Amino acid sequence: MKQIVLFLALASLYVATTNAEHKIVCFYDSASYSIEGVGQLTNKQLEVALQYCSHLVYGYVGIKADNYEAHSLNEKVDILEHQFSEITAFKRKYPKLKILLSVGGDRDIDESHPDKYVKLLEAGQDKQKAFIQTAHLLVKNYGFDGLDLAYQFPRNKPRKIHGVVGSVFKLFKKAFTGDEVVDRDAEKHKLQFTRLVDDLQDTLRSDGYLLSLTVLPNVNSTWYFDIPKLDKLVDFVNLGTFDFVTPQRNPEEADYSAPLFFDASEDRLPHNNVKFQTEYWAKQGFPISKLNVGIPTHGNVWKLTDDSGNTGVPIVYHADGPAPASTITKKSGLLGSAEICKLLTLPGDDVKMDREAQLIHSTLGHYGYAPAEGKSRGLWVGYDDIDTVTKKTEFALVSAGGLALFHLGHDDFLGVCAKVRYPILRSIKQTIQDYQH
Ligand SMILES: *[C@@H]1O[C@H](CO)[C@@H](O)[C@H](O)[C@H]1NC(C)=O
Repeated sequence: MKQIVLFLALASLYVATTNAEHKIVCFYDSASYSIEGVGQLTNKQLEVALQYCSHLVYGYVGIKADNYEAHSLNEKVDILEHQFSEITAFKRKYPKLKILLSVGGDRDIDESHPDKYVKLLEAGQDKQKAFIQTAHLLVKNYGFDGLDLAYQFPRNKPRKIHGVVGSVFKLFKKAFTGDEVVDRDAEKHKLQFTRLVDDLQDTLRSDGYLLSLTVLPNVNSTWYFDIPKLDKLVDFVNLGTFDFVTPQRNPEEADYSAPLFFDASEDRLPHNNVKFQTEYWAKQGFPISKLNVGIPTHGNVWKLTDDSGNTGVPIVYHADGPAPASTITKKSGLLGSAEICKLLTLPGDDVKMDREAQLIHSTLGHYGYAPAEGKSRGLWVGYDDIDTVTKKTEFALVSAGGLALFHLGHDDFLGVCAKVRYPILRSIKQTIQDYQH
């Protein structure tokens, strides 16, 4: 509670002393253009969002495993159907909007070359030139304002949990921090990445292009980012501060996926929250004005079992992995925010709580659930509702330079649940405006 009061106080102080424009970096996953049915984000619907965004990031292009050239992952849409050009053409109507092209993300998945991004780091400057030149050309030929690197690094291993089985195991469990070594050469890769960004920056800046970095969820910044050096090379950094816990990575424990603060009341990891990750970059000397706090627009959904109980209060143990794919996201364990209201009957804040407890609770996230009963399977979804998004925005006003929305296609862009279009994006904008006035 003290923490919250303090940051609200700081927020007003901060706003009183600065006129800095806070960024709203909107991620556009072009895959949502090709989804059939209600999940399809057409360019007309996309345009509704643009008045609220300072930056639009077009995701994602990939790299070729054999020669490291940057290339479109869907030439039919990006090039033949002119989606690259149609998106960058929005700049004429929204001249203040900056549009970047993003490489990587979780779209450039290549089963036979799962570590090609690491290989590119090790390939040496000559081969990296192919990547830099082709990325530069994509930006230039299609009218983007710059490049975003959503670089694929090895992810933290999820913590192994086998439910709360006996006190011996509880003692033992402390040892599983979820951060076992995943890359023995991390130190070397960090050096190589800094050099790659340096070379890329040289090329892009000579044409006046922007360069940003996106830290993908569950990539440990300590291992891969030489933060003081990167400050001189990039325009801003988007922190993927969500999906700390997911049904794929943590099939047996359903929990808030993107808490703002560390809540030690349950067995959680101290660095799996927005505040820790944001302050980590700041503590390494990165200017907070260039840090954007990631906000997810999706919910993570677990199947429940009879053993999961029926209170819904997280952490919910004995869960059973991801729920089947939904019509909007087409991915198992993932719901778009337009789907959450329809699916679940018991919203989590029905739980009786005093005001103080409620405040803390909403900084962790929000949940809804349907308990398992007899043969029917239960579901549990954790997500950021407007209240949580507002608290994160208030936090970002003090501790960062803006927000990064992941991504527009999962916000309720038709206003199905919320009755307004893009409720999450709009609430971010509204909160920023309220502070500035
Ligand atoms: C990276 O992992 C280590 C543990 O191996 C942890 O102490 C550190 O906080 C993590 N860094 C970040 C930025 O999460």
